[in-house]
Amino acid sequence: MARIPIAGPWITQKEIDYVTDAVSHAWYDQAGMYNQKFESAFAAYLGVPYAVSLPSCTSALHLALAALGIGEGDEVIVPDLTWIATSAPISYVGATPVFADVDPLSWCLSVEGLQACLSPKTRAVISVDLYGGMPDYQPLRQFCQQHGLALIEDAAEAIGSTYQGIRAGSLGDVGTFSFHGSKTLTTGEGGMLVTASEEIWKRVQFLRDHGRVPGDKLFWNSEVAFKYKMSSLQAALGLAQLERIEDLVARKREIFSWYQQSLAGLKGISLNAEPAGVSNSYWMVTLVLDRSSSLDKEALLAAFKQRGIDCRPFFYPLSSLPAYAALPQAQTAAEQNQHAYQISPYGINLPSALSLTQADVEAVCQQLREILAD
Ligand SMILES: Cc1ncc(COP(=O)(O)O)c(C=O)c1O
Repeated sequence: MARIPIAGPWITQKEIDYVTDAVSHAWYDQAGMYNQKFESAFAAYLGVPYAVSLPSCTSALHLALAALGIGEGDEVIVPDLTWIATSAPISYVGATPVFADVDPLSWCLSVEGLQACLSPKTRAVISVDLYGGMPDYQPLRQFCQQHGLALIEDAAEAIGSTYQGIRAGSLGDVGTFSFHGSKTLTTGEGGMLVTASEEIWKRVQFLRDHGRVPGDKLFWNSEVAFKYKMSSLQAALGLAQLERIEDLVARKREIFSWYQQSLAGLKGISLNAEPAGVSNSYWMVTLVLDRSSSLDKEALLAAFKQRGIDCRPFFYPLSSLPAYAALPQAQTAAEQNQHAYQISPYGINLPSALSLTQADVEAVCQQLREILAD
């Protein structure tokens, strides 16, 4: 039997046609045509004035921090439960990450978590829309405003989610997206930065092209900066995917609903939350076992692997990773972040590829029931 994949895209003839057109025509004076179309369609979809296509979400976060002028001596708060791509760019600009505890239901940042991390050095918060879920943004935004902090929304995993009708990625001063091959909308590798601020947008355009103004033909650099550009082939793929975004998100929600129905009667587990006011695009269907369970995530992963099903562990708390072992802020977080340390050991991502059928999902659920009954 073929393995049931954890993640993967939904590619149609439209994507193939657009990429074929890009490789045939997007050169010379047409070189940027797909990037421009992708950026303006993306900005329109999000309801924001500016979008910049980039090679990754990591580079988008790096540019967001750099454009906000964050650097040495500054602290930036991130949730303890996320992929290291959220926090690594804080080190790229010479600032220090501080790891906040998460809300036990949404698995995302909470005001209580932020409060515990606030210091005179705090300059910004990076919130993460984890696995498609969203934090309660109204109090988060209020907290940031009160304390004069910039809010960067890492919506890498959340295209298509909404909070009180507002699209994920447009709730902060800057929003960032990933189009990695595992994501709901993919360009193979790729990312996008969005903002309503003309100043940030201009600064990002400048910083991402070796410190020169857009359109410069003189190779005239006024600062040492970065080279972060998305290719036209990727932009063509992204545009085709974006034109199908409603279908892609609807399929993700359908896959989640299959799991939800099948696992409805199963005790001792919880799945991704969708609190009132949130529409979750369920990038990864995620299962967390009650702490009373005799299994942890490593045991669950091993059991699924043996049965031909690919799963992934819930992210380990950043503060528990060897990468941050020498950071005093990580030691404090490991002592304080109760929720993060209670959720992570019991969580796994279930297969969520866009190619899944209801029969695949049923097979995963059946195996889960058997594993838990053992
Ligand atoms: C929450 C989060 N932030 C950032 C990233 C980084 O995205 P990229 O791989 O496009 O740099 C990812 C990627 O998986 C992610 O899940």
